[in-house]
Amino acid sequence: MIKVLLVCLGNICRSPSAEGVLRQQIKERGLEQRISVDSAGTAAWHIGKSPDQRSIAAAQQRGIDISDLRARAVSPTDFNDYDYILAMDLENLSNLKTMAPAECRAELSLFLAFDAQSSHSEVPDPYYGGEQGFNLVLDLVTDASEAFIKHVLKQHTL
Ligand code: 4NP
Repeated sequence: MIKVLLVCLGNICRSPSAEGVLRQQIKERGLEQRISVDSAGTAAWHIGKSPDQRSIAAAQQRGIDISDLRARAVSPTDFNDYDYILAMDLENLSNLKTMAPAECRAELSLFLAFDAQSSHSEVPDPYYGGEQGFNLVLDLVTDASEAFIKHVLKQHTL
């Protein structure tokens, strides 16, 4: 099983959206027994909370239900429990690198780095903006999820 942890700041907007999208693509490809997905935040503010209502609504419009996800913070054990820890932006990536123990099994990267065609290198934080930002998050993570699955299939010959 390839284990993937998607990480943003609060774990209520970007990473749960990415989790829902990547999970759906994994299911569509029949890879549920090969790739597992979770998400977490580098900040602890929203632990136990549902995703932001705007993220839930935007995902619902695309047929993806993320309402049952609950926020958690990145934990020190994640660095050896996961194969990939993928950050939504450079600040999260930098914080992850600071938190990582010397012995770290996980590959740390930006999620969008797998999508060479992406118009963005980071997933912009939609929290203080409008609905458009939440749709942009979904657009970016949809393309990145496809690219990431391709990478995993090639890299791990699943
Ligand atoms: P996320 O968005 O990192 O995509 O979950 C945010 C959620 C909450 C806050 C900032 C960003 N906040 O400041 O509470």
